[in-house]
Amino acid sequence: MNTFAGSVEKLCSASIRDYINPYSYIEWPETLATDQWCTTPELISLFGTPFYDDLSPAEQQRLSFYEAINFFSLNIHGEKSLIEGLAQRLYRKGNDVVSPYIHHFLDEENKHMIYFGGFCVRYANKVYPDRKMVFTRDYEAGEEDFMFFGKVLIFEEIVDVYNRRMAKDERLAPIIRQINFLHHRDESRHPAFWRLLLRDLFEKYSPQWSKETRERISEYLKNYLLATWKEYYNPAAYKDAGLKNAFDVQEQALQIDATRKHRNEVSAGCIRFLMETGILLEQPQL
Ligand SMILES: [Fe+2]
Ligand SMILES: [Fe+2]
Repeated sequence: MNTFAGSVEKLCSASIRDYINPYSYIEWPETLATDQWCTTPELISLFGTPFYDDLSPAEQQRLSFYEAINFFSLNIHGEKSLIEGLAQRLYRKGNDVVSPYIHHFLDEENKHMIYFGGFCVRYANKVYPDRKMVFTRDYEAGEEDFMFFGKVLIFEEIVDVYNRRMAKDERLAPIIRQINFLHHRDESRHPAFWRLLLRDLFEKYSPQWSKETRERISEYLKNYLLATWKEYYNPAAYKDAGLKNAFDVQEQALQIDATRKHRNEVSAGCIRFLMETGILLEQPQL
């Protein structure tokens, strides 16, 4: 058995071992007190900016709640498109090795949406809408798959840094910690798999790709990384938290050094992988 097939088999066993029922696993509090943290303060998108510093502690906690709704909402949208793309690839010719694991992915990502959506609808009565745009065009052999899995890797690696930190943060409401912990438990396997798969696809297809295709893929994934980060700065969440001029806040916050530093720090591992493999041809400017 080659190493890729062996790794897929191990990942399947781990998914079977950690299988949970999300309906019985989580005990939802009737209501959620507003005088507590729902996002790790240092992970709040405006942390380190005057917009955050000017808020009272109560207002900062209110913002932390809407940032959690935004974080969970963007997870739902990321997972929706992941499920869509994975379902299309299930049992597709050439996917014999990965299809058994795709079943686990579909199951796990659906469960994640159950608790992310459960939280948002219960306590905020909404999920923020998806703000990403989708473009379609023609692709070279292997290019479409590669970009799909590249996007998934970027998306999940950033999310997992947040999950890991919030699962351990004792300042947070217990239900928030639990959701982040549960998500991290499954997700601790997913990015490792995407990295394996991307290396495998890159070795297989990149020698046949033209220089233009290599550049296009690098540019596309870089833009996806920027777009993903922009979603963490959601004017709708700022407005709900009572901030004025929410769109200006988003635009200005993205330019402040403290937030750039944060984005670079959180995505460092992912960017390192994409640069070392040669997938990204230049360091992205976040
Ligand atoms: Fe997930
Ligand atoms: Fe995942």
